[in-house]
Amino acid sequence: MYKIVVTGGSRGLGLGIAVRLVEAGYEVIAIARKSTKELVAAQEVANRDTPRLHFRAFDLSDIDGIAALVKQLRAEFGKVYGLVNNAAVGTSGILSNARVEQIQSQIQLNTVSPIVLSKFLLRSMMAGGGGRIVNVSSIVGFTGYSGLSVYSATKAAMIGFTKSLAREVGQLGITVNSVAPGFLDTEMTSEMEQSHKDTIARRSALRRMPEVIDVANAVEFLMGEKARNITGIVLTVDAGNTV
Ligand SMILES: NC(=O)c1ccc[n+]([C@@H]2O[C@H](COP(=O)([O-])OP(=O)(O)OC[C@H]3O[C@@H](n4cnc5c(N)ncnc54)[C@H](OP(=O)(O)O)[C@@H]3O)[C@@H](O)[C@H]2O)c1
Repeated sequence: MYKIVVTGGSRGLGLGIAVRLVEAGYEVIAIARKSTKELVAAQEVANRDTPRLHFRAFDLSDIDGIAALVKQLRAEFGKVYGLVNNAAVGTSGILSNARVEQIQSQIQLNTVSPIVLSKFLLRSMMAGGGGRIVNVSSIVGFTGYSGLSVYSATKAAMIGFTKSLAREVGQLGITVNSVAPGFLDTEMTSEMEQSHKDTIARRSALRRMPEVIDVANAVEFLMGEKARNITGIVLTVDAGNTV
């Protein structure tokens, strides 16, 4: 069974992706700092017959610890076929008021950490003769959004990373793609006012916001055989917010 690592798989979009991939027949290792009751409930369903949805606690801002994490995952689970770089923080606020340490830690978690994790897991994919990386970006990485300058910079960085790495590892049978969700109803956007969400929905072609399952379906597609000749793309899932 193909093994996929999903970072930030304890809640929100990451959990939705993990569950969708398990349903599609993959074995998933979800990573976050701590588990949640939603993840435990999903594990109870997924692991009824055989263990298919695992959780390993790790703080991805510990860049120096990522090599050891990957070593431990490989010892425990064997070859890893896929990686979904989903974990991120969405700290908002005007740039002139932001603390420098806060800017650095957001860039570290949202950009440096997925790049370093990809670097180490790529070796496992090479050994397995192929693989898949899906980087979770955001529409704000190309549209911009007031109050999200640092976050948007990290999400734009993931798009450049996706395109260059796709060129670098394509000959090894590894695809690298990105999904760019529009605003989703998760903990990350919990402080956003309902009226604001209503405005986003009203201004979108489909007059609604995308849901976690829509993005999870897109990730499943990019992970699968049907996407074998798709690499270096950004798949926008935003109910037409940016058309
Ligand atoms: N929500 C949106 O509107 C939206 C729109 C576009 C793109 N996105 C992107 O979608 C992805 C998921 O967002 P979400 O809305 O699902 O966010 P979320 O609900 O806040 O979940 C974030 C996940 O990342 C994990 N995480 C955070 N810091 C971590 C750390 N230091 N080490 C390990 N794991 C960490 C969290 O677990 P712990 O806190 O326990 O570590 C959690 O599992 C992100 O890349 C985000 O940029 C979201």
